[in-house]
Amino acid sequence: MKKNIAIVCGGYSGEYDVSIESAKLVKRNLDPLKYNSYVVVIEPNDWYYQADNGQKIKMNLNDFSVQIGSETIKFDAVFNVIHGTPGEDGKLQSYFDIIGVPYTSSGVDSSSLTFNKFNCNAFVSSYGINRANSISYKEGEKVNYEEIVKKLGLPLFIKPNRSGSSVGITKVNNVDEIEAAIGKALEADDRVLIEEFIDGREIACGILQKGSELIVFPLTEIVSKNEFFDYEAKYTKGMADEICPAPNVPHEIEQDVKALSAFLFHQMDCKGFVRFDYIFTEENLYFLEVNTIPGISEASILPQMALEYGLSLKGFLNIVLDNII
Ligand SMILES: Nc1ncnc2c1ncn2[C@@H]1O[C@H](COP(=O)(O)OP(=O)(O)O)[C@@H](O)[C@H]1O
Ligand SMILES: [Mg+2]
Repeated sequence: MKKNIAIVCGGYSGEYDVSIESAKLVKRNLDPLKYNSYVVVIEPNDWYYQADNGQKIKMNLNDFSVQIGSETIKFDAVFNVIHGTPGEDGKLQSYFDIIGVPYTSSGVDSSSLTFNKFNCNAFVSSYGINRANSISYKEGEKVNYEEIVKKLGLPLFIKPNRSGSSVGITKVNNVDEIEAAIGKALEADDRVLIEEFIDGREIACGILQKGSELIVFPLTEIVSKNEFFDYEAKYTKGMADEICPAPNVPHEIEQDVKALSAFLFHQMDCKGFVRFDYIFTEENLYFLEVNTIPGISEASILPQMALEYGLSLKGFLNIVLDNII
């Protein structure tokens, strides 16, 4: 019998639009012989099923069902493509755990750890993995600008602790810009991270869980046309090259990135498909961050990796759902 899948998208963050695009790719590529798929949009005050003709029907949150005409649709699984809160930080995962609906992404603890860059960095550093040196402040704490520059130099990366798609991130080139950049970051979260600038090549490693095995995709190099991989570069065609397979990566770096990503996937207890990002310089490899709900729109990095690996999008999505139902 065909399974009912809710493609859950939207969310409460600046990544709403990206999530809607990711949902479209999933909807288009889910195997219609195996699955009935339903797009469910989650907004702060409205959780609704959105029909192909645009009709919206409110979800029943007692069991995440929806009444379509005379039929009550219940879901065998949730395909979670909400980037940012509440889909990538464990909140939605808690709800689905409580009502007993399986989902494609990492669970509560894993999502909550990885979405919090401050906590995630501490976790990664505990294994001796290189990270950019950093200082962090909670909203309201006194900021010592001199100490920041003395410890981390310039330029700096100033970012919200819990955010994504580079929302709220500023590259700061002189000390006068720090205050405004901290203010901007604190609009997105109540903790700010200030990092030294790592001047190197940016590289992404995608991992797909297949039962008890892990598929490690070919690496992608990200070359932004802007000063860094900011929101514009991420989502404007032609503003960044995302090259897969990444060219001329030293063999040792490639091996390290792949091994480290598989190691962290296990240690962080990730599920489904995840993208680990790094920067490497002449001397070192630095962990940048992990995305437990990476973009999977037509233009996103991970679907390109899967195709380069030799996996069709349909095949990719089948593996993701076979993991959980
Ligand atoms: N310490 C750093 N040194 C150099 N570039 C950085 C640093 N931190 C972030 N960046 C740049 O900013 C982008 C966004 O930072 P990231 O931490 O990945 O936040 P987000 O979760 O919003 O994607 C990265 O892809 C990279 O281009
Ligand atoms: Mg990032």
